[in-house]
Amino acid sequence: MDWHSRFLQQAGWTKDLRAYLFEQAGLKEARRVLEVGCGTGAILSDLSTRADVHGLDMDHLRLLEARRHVPSVELACGNALSLPYASGVFDITFCHFLLLWVRQPVLALSEMKRVTRLGGAVLALAEPDYTSRIDKPAALAPLGRWQAESLKRQGADPGVGKRLADLFRDAGIMPIETGPLGGGSGSRMGRSNPDSSTGLQSREALPTSAERDLEWSVLEADLAGLVPADELRRMKMMDEHAWERGERVLHVPTYFAWGIV
Ligand SMILES: C[S@@+](CC[C@H](N)C(=O)[O-])C[C@H]1O[C@@H](n2cnc3c(N)ncnc32)[C@H](O)[C@@H]1O
Repeated sequence: MDWHSRFLQQAGWTKDLRAYLFEQAGLKEARRVLEVGCGTGAILSDLSTRADVHGLDMDHLRLLEARRHVPSVELACGNALSLPYASGVFDITFCHFLLLWVRQPVLALSEMKRVTRLGGAVLALAEPDYTSRIDKPAALAPLGRWQAESLKRQGADPGVGKRLADLFRDAGIMPIETGPLGGGSGSRMGRSNPDSSTGLQSREALPTSAERDLEWSVLEADLAGLVPADELRRMKMMDEHAWERGERVLHVPTYFAWGIV
């Protein structure tokens, strides 16, 4: 599984939303910025700023890859639940597809708040709710159930997205804006389609066959051992036919939230 390609794909879904939220959060004036759970650097490589940029992840191998993609970023290996930074040292602290993997997301957000200066911003740019995944035609609905089950087995919380605003409040961060990335058929597989309340244009784009292949690589990696291989192959064929006939809907509601410290 090529995780950097997957992270770049996910980064593509949230590109417009990120541009909007980073502007609101004052990225232009920021002097120090931190991504918690930066993975291979997919988001950091697209961050346009004069600030000192920091990235933290607990996975050493991902950080080694990030070093190649974002050589000028200060990278650290550490845990989101106990950030190795002094209090109040960042202007903006953010995460992207992190909290679903963290067993204590309120503690992670509290830590993000602690290392952010008063008046600075904490952003969770994208957290999914796989428990509300929509698959059409209906025969493909088991894919969503299986994926949510597999994420649970991996220790993730597949429904974290729909609780994001509450998690912010529990961490003592009053959300300024929160909500789902825009909906619509194929929006999870298509481009980012932010909520109209952000003032951004909605747009729909069907996934390319390369994007569909990547989605299947993730599914196959997630579902190995959980679903028999011939059952998965049958689903994959149905999925391909449905895309070709224009009947496919694949939507995973995905949420963002941000607030001022
Ligand atoms: C889905 S990846 C997202 C990577 C990056 N944010 C992006 O969007 O491209 C989630 C990352 O969070 C990291 N992670 C998970 N739990 C963590 C924790 N408790 N502390 C630090 N990093 C963590 C994983 O190692 C992984 O690299």
